[in-house]
Amino acid sequence: MEVQILSLALVDIKGLAEIFRKSPFSGQLMTRNRFDEAAANWDNEPRRVALMKTIGEKIVAQVQLTTDMDVFDYGCGTGLVSLYLLPHVRTVTGADNSAAMLQVLRGKIAETGLSNMEAVHLDLEHDAVPKNRYHMVVVSMAMHHIRDMEKVLHAFHELLVPDGILCLADLDTEPGTFHPADAAESVHHHGFDRNALKQRLSSVGFTEPNDTTVAKFQKPVEAGGEQEFSIFLITARK
Ligand SMILES: C[S@@+](CC[C@H](N)C(=O)[O-])C[C@H]1O[C@@H](n2cnc3c(N)ncnc32)[C@H](O)[C@@H]1O
Repeated sequence: MEVQILSLALVDIKGLAEIFRKSPFSGQLMTRNRFDEAAANWDNEPRRVALMKTIGEKIVAQVQLTTDMDVFDYGCGTGLVSLYLLPHVRTVTGADNSAAMLQVLRGKIAETGLSNMEAVHLDLEHDAVPKNRYHMVVVSMAMHHIRDMEKVLHAFHELLVPDGILCLADLDTEPGTFHPADAAESVHHHGFDRNALKQRLSSVGFTEPNDTTVAKFQKPVEAGGEQEFSIFLITARK
């Protein structure tokens, strides 16, 4: 009996060791990063690339971008939105906590010899807020992956210059079917209620929160068939 309990405990410890690994960047214990695994094929999904372009177009339509603006794109991934915005502004700093996504983005930066775009490893849920300040912070389809929203929204506010603008694009409230079940550990919000999110931004210190619809689309879901999802863009001023 004792031997059985001990072996069960050992299985548990082995399982935990697999689930938790030491981050080479921050020294924190963290769960497996789904985005590290997805990075190499991230841009091979035409639906995703098209959606990010639509988000980029909506930002350009909503915000008066100028070539003296420095932009911070949090949860930048492989830079689909960052690179869309780059020709319209002075610099874009892409930040992400997936080393593999950043590696893909750095490959693109090197390939095209871009000198006004950089990719930095950052997790604002755990790391200090960087010292640089930006005219615009963009967060596109990343907020639903952020557990500690309060902390990260405060960090966005801090990262902006006075009168700087936040552009937050994400899913409207959805029934939890947008992602496959095996992604559940990385999904902390099943979309957002726009009004509740705007109120939250106001409580963090943002002003003039406005929302608009970026896209409505059908997407196949795991249970079978397709469902409609929609994406909003909220803009707010510091
Ligand atoms: C759905 S992807 C969006 C990618 C991107 N915005 C684009 O334009 O294609 C979500 C991104 O958020 C990143 N992410 C998730 N949690 C994060 C966190 N706590 N800190 C920084 N990045 C995070 C992921 O690594 C991933 O690259």
